Amino acid sequence: MIRKARIADVVEIHKMLWHFSKAEKLLARSLSELYTTVRDIVVFEDEAGRIAGCCTLHIVDEDLAEIRSLAVLESHQRRGIGRDLVEACISEAKELGICKLFALTGEVAFFERLGFQLEDKEDLPHKVWWDCRHCPKHPNYCDESALVLDIA
Ligand SMILES: CC(C)(COP(=O)(O)OP(=O)(O)OC[C@H]1O[C@@H](n2cnc3c(N)ncnc32)[C@H](O)[C@@H]1OP(=O)(O)O)[C@@H](O)C(=O)NCCC(=O)NCCS
Repeated sequence: MIRKARIADVVEIHKMLWHFSKAEKLLARSLSELYTTVRDIVVFEDEAGRIAGCCTLHIVDEDLAEIRSLAVLESHQRRGIGRDLVEACISEAKELGICKLFALTGEVAFFERLGFQLEDKEDLPHKVWWDCRHCPKHPNYCDESALVLDIA
């Protein structure tokens, strides 16, 4: 079941992001940041009540938002959960009146399956990079691609 995150989910989300950050798949988030942004997060809860996936819709600007902190536990991957999480964020972005979504990711093929298209990173507004200052690979060793989806 895909649903909005709750305060009680945050410790599991934190653990999941920490797990994938060690493989440099995404940026870890502090517990504090997750609590303050919990309304931006959707989760996948499996039949056993376990939080097995998460995704954040982070609004950047009047017409731009980022899909970030996307993760699905290895045991649950390739079952369409990642797609459902991103699609839940796309629906919310549309409701909010956002025109364009982007993701900075190493999972290019996954996002292309969802209709995102590769874009030159330099074409994204500079404020997009604000978060990247926390990344040890920024800027010289950044190996992520920018993908965008127009939803207007
Ligand atoms: C990327 C990730 C979220 C995908 O989640 P998932 O639940 O396995 O993906 P889905 O099953 O919904 O896949 C949707 C489609 O993408 C394809 N796909 C998924 N992962 C893929 C990959 N690594 N390479 C190519 N295609 C992939 C699936 O085959 C499926 O294709 P379909 O349209 O033919 O059905 C998951 O692999 C993950 O958590 N990875 C580690 C964290 C990470 O890299 N996050 C991204 C940071 S932005």
